[in-house]
Formats: sequence, structure tokens, C-alpha cells
Amino acid sequence: NERTFLAVKPDGCQRRLVGEIIRRFERKGFRLVAMKLMQASETLLKDHYIALRDRPFYNRLKDLYMGSGPVVAMVWQGLDVVKTARLMLGETNPVDSLPGTIRGDFGVDVSRNVIHGSDSRESAQREISLWFRPDEIVCWQDHAERWIYE
Ligand code: GTP
Ligand code: MG
Repeated sequence: NERTFLAVKPDGCQRRLVGEIIRRFERKGFRLVAMKLMQASETLLKDHYIALRDRPFYNRLKDLYMGSGPVVAMVWQGLDVVKTARLMLGETNPVDSLPGTIRGDFGVDVSRNVIHGSDSRESAQREISLWFRPDEIVCWQDHAERWIYE
């Protein structure tokens, strides 16, 4: 069963959007298997954003945004959850995100876009192992599964 890494960014936490965001993924039918509120360390953010290290906004993104306050890190599981979660997030820039998506509904600025979501199955695996220890992931029997899947 596929898993993805999602994180409510510091702006999402400050703006009290954590519950709203969790609610959307729960209602969709995905299963929450790990979650923690944390202050992301410099080391973790460097590793997380390794692919963006040469971008002009990299330092601001890492230090003044993602490292500036609490992040709610989560692992969600379900059929095609990586792709579907990205659709539910919207585009990187809120101006390109349709109403109904998280970024389309709750943001205006690309550098304050509320939530992170893994962009591929490979990134998801990498990010889950970066943000969570194996024992922080909870395998639980989902009694709604037969009403969500054939
Ligand atoms: P994530 O789910 O957060 O990874 O976003 P993404 O996959 O849609 O975009 P990407 O991985 O390319 O960029 C990561 C994050 O860097 C974005 O979510 C933004 O917060 C920030 N970012 C991306 N592009 C820009 C930019 O042009 N300017 C600024 N200031 N921030 C950017
Ligand atoms: Mg990304």
C-alpha cells in the first residue's frame, strides 16, 4: 500500500489550518499512519531540500520559513496517495491552484504555500525515512477499508 509524506508548514500551523488539512485527507479515505508536531532542525531541512540548494530562495525557504516554527509531519497511506495528495495540495504557486485545493483555498504567495507533499513514490520513501523512525509508523487495521475500497 502506497505512502506519502505530508507536512503542514509553519504558516499552516500559525494560521490554525492543521485540523482542516487533516480533515480533508481523512474524509478522502486515506489512512494516517504517523504524525508529529516538531521544530525541524537545520540538518533535517538541509537534507529535505537538498534538490533546491542552488535556488535563489533556498536560504529563506529553509531558515526564515520552514525552520521558523512548528511543522506537523505526517505519513498518509492509501491507493495512489502520492499523486492524489499532490492534486489535493494544488500547484506550487497558489496563483495556479484551483479553488478546492489546499493551496487554492488557503494561500496567495508561493513562499507561504501552507503544506508540503512528496512529488513521487521515490521522494516519498526518502522523505518518510528522513522525518520518521520506523517505530513511529503505526500499522493499524482500518475497519473502514471495505467501505473505501472494493
Ligand atoms: P513542496 O510540496 O513544498 O515540496 O512544494 P512543490 O513540490 O510544489 O515545489 P518545490 O519542491 O519545487 O519547492 C519547494 C518549496 O519551495 C515550495 O513549496 C515553496 O514553498 C518554495 N518555493 C518553490 N519555488 C519558489 C519560488 O520561486 N520562490 C520562493 N520564494 N519559494 C519557492
Ligand atoms: Mg517539492
